[in-house]
Amino acid sequence: PPAAIINPSILSADFAKLGAECERIMRDGSDWIHVDIMDGHFVPNMTFGPPVVSKIRPHVERPTAAKGRGTFDCHMMIAEPKKWVKEFQKAGCDLYCFHYEAAISSTAAESPETTSAAKTDPKDMIKYIHSLGMQAGIAIKPKTDVDVLWEILDNPEKSEVPDMVLVMTVEPGFGGQKFMADMMPKVSALRQRYPSLDIEVDGGLSGSTVDTAAEAGANVIVAGSAVFGAKDAGEVITVLRGAVEK
Ligand code: DX5
Ligand code: ZN
Repeated sequence: PPAAIINPSILSADFAKLGAECERIMRDGSDWIHVDIMDGHFVPNMTFGPPVVSKIRPHVERPTAAKGRGTFDCHMMIAEPKKWVKEFQKAGCDLYCFHYEAAISSTAAESPETTSAAKTDPKDMIKYIHSLGMQAGIAIKPKTDVDVLWEILDNPEKSEVPDMVLVMTVEPGFGGQKFMADMMPKVSALRQRYPSLDIEVDGGLSGSTVDTAAEAGANVIVAGSAVFGAKDAGEVITVLRGAVEK
């Protein structure tokens, strides 16, 4: 399985000092920074947009060749994911992770690039994200069946295949919710079919739930409240990494 990637979500950071919080958490050993973008439509909550992302970006190192992809992982909980790809690339996003549900319900015409009224094809989204030099991720909500991903992942056209899949382990919108262990069959099914795929889990991950996720095959671990709510964030990051590397 691919290497462990510990990815603290700044949704639970002190918003009054986001830059310093990112620096602290990177010093404490995180691999990536998970940035939750919410628009008040796709989810019943709002966070931040490109101006905030571009301000905090210089506080986080660019990915090194050794570490490969990622670092600045933007989880796009927005109704019109295609519309914002360019803006987030300009703001410094490394990995643009959009929701499958949002892509298939938004129209391609929302993109400045096209006038077609056809629904946005996730494959086109991935290709578009790649064309702008970012990594692409695709996320599924708890009620979405993992089977929808097979035709996207089995595509021989590599530019249309995502670099990462995010299996939500809570309903997106808020930090501090309870981990849904019943999402694990999705993770196992993905891991069985794709031994080297980066599989991310997000929601309710902590020292007491990470083993379940890691055993199912997740290697990218998002954690908000568990990391930012801890006295010693470094210790929590070590525990999370240990579970994946076990
Ligand atoms: C929820 C977000 C998560 C959130 C996780 O919609 O996608 O990234 O920050 O928070 P915890 O780890 O507290 O469940
Ligand atoms: Zn998230």
